[in-house]
Amino acid sequence: MESVWLFGYGSLIWRPDFEFLSSRVAWVDGWTRRFWQGSHDHRGIPEAPGRVVTLIPSENERCGGIAFEIAAPDVKDIFTALDYREKNGYDRCEAPLYFVPDGGDSKVEGIFYIANQNNFAFLGDAPIEQIAKQINQSHGPSGSNSEYLFNLALSLRDLDINDEHVFEIERELKHLNQTAQ
Ligand code: SIN
Repeated sequence: MESVWLFGYGSLIWRPDFEFLSSRVAWVDGWTRRFWQGSHDHRGIPEAPGRVVTLIPSENERCGGIAFEIAAPDVKDIFTALDYREKNGYDRCEAPLYFVPDGGDSKVEGIFYIANQNNFAFLGDAPIEQIAKQINQSHGPSGSNSEYLFNLALSLRDLDINDEHVFEIERELKHLNQTAQ
């Protein structure tokens, strides 16, 4: 087996917590990132779920994130750990990952985790103010939901990936924090 590429678009961008050979900015076609998945085990609790990202099918859109190259001997252990980390509604899928051209491969097959709309923790769409309010109030075993949102927004900006959905929630969350002072 050769190395395997894993695409991260949420917490995997800013907290990969596994060894990898290389990483590159990458895109998946036909998907958009949304804070529509409930978090019972990381950024909220079952009685008061937080909100984390999943990918929603969307024609003519693409979602940017990071592709991590995992060495063949590490694949089994890393995916066992990731299946556990992403157990709250996410399934593994496969799709082509497109890289920003840099002289190397421009496309590889990759694996990523998606929480589809039929999973038990799926919350779906809501007004941005309501999503921000829920994130502002939620905490779970991995920490506050705001930390997840702010770290993701910061990382996307560092990677030069524009995501208006994430940035709009970030603005609303900052506004909520300011008005609370
Ligand atoms: C991902 O980061 O790719 C999956 C969603 C998450 O764990 O935040």
